[in-house]
Amino acid sequence: MGLWEKHVLPRMVDKMCGTKDMLPWRERAFAGLSGTVLEIGFGSGLNLAAYPPEVTRVLAVEPSELGRRLAADRIAKSGIDVDFVGLQGENIPLDDAVADGAASAFTLCTIPGVEQALAEVRRVLKPGAPFHLVEHGLAPQPNVQKWQHRIDPIEKKVAGGCHLTRDPVALLRAAGFTVEREEHDWMKAPKPWGYLTIATARAAS
Ligand SMILES: C[S@@+](CC[C@H](N)C(=O)[O-])C[C@H]1O[C@@H](n2cnc3c(N)ncnc32)[C@H](O)[C@@H]1O
Repeated sequence: MGLWEKHVLPRMVDKMCGTKDMLPWRERAFAGLSGTVLEIGFGSGLNLAAYPPEVTRVLAVEPSELGRRLAADRIAKSGIDVDFVGLQGENIPLDDAVADGAASAFTLCTIPGVEQALAEVRRVLKPGAPFHLVEHGLAPQPNVQKWQHRIDPIEKKVAGGCHLTRDPVALLRAAGFTVEREEHDWMKAPKPWGYLTIATARAAS
């Protein structure tokens, strides 16, 4: 991890993803979660304010030490028990079938081994438990896709490995999840960054 990723990017993500207009997307995505939730890419804890009161514990996976530090106040104020359980979604040091649900916000775009991370989410979820997510990704419009593919190499370099061209729903299906809710909208952002997916998915085992 370079100086940019270590010292600057987590603060930028905290500011840019922490705006008021992002909260309703997060709340919409995470409605229905309860109990112990595995969260991959916990960042600076911005999702804590969006979890329903039925969520009592978060098993947080986050590689950025600064992100974890920036989360401290939010954790203290949240009333949710947060345990940092691992650094990488691709390798989660938890037993099988321990989570009542899982959550991801704007993280499937970034995790290098996203297929392996989704296999890990499946493993850690109790059978039939839901995975709720809100992600940006590949837009259906060819003219937007063209720009997403053009910008992607720069985006990856400046935004910590973030891809504009991943399709979260396709990734979920390829990982063996059944997608039971799929909603799309546009964020207030330039089009290549703006196509939003809110989804809930489950795997039988
Ligand atoms: C765009 S940020 C989103 C942070 C947070 N989920 C939010 O909504 O504000 C992407 C996050 O993924 C984390 N990340 C990067 N590689 C990861 C990996 N291999 N496993 C889990 N998280 C990872 C980053 O450190 C960062 O916190």
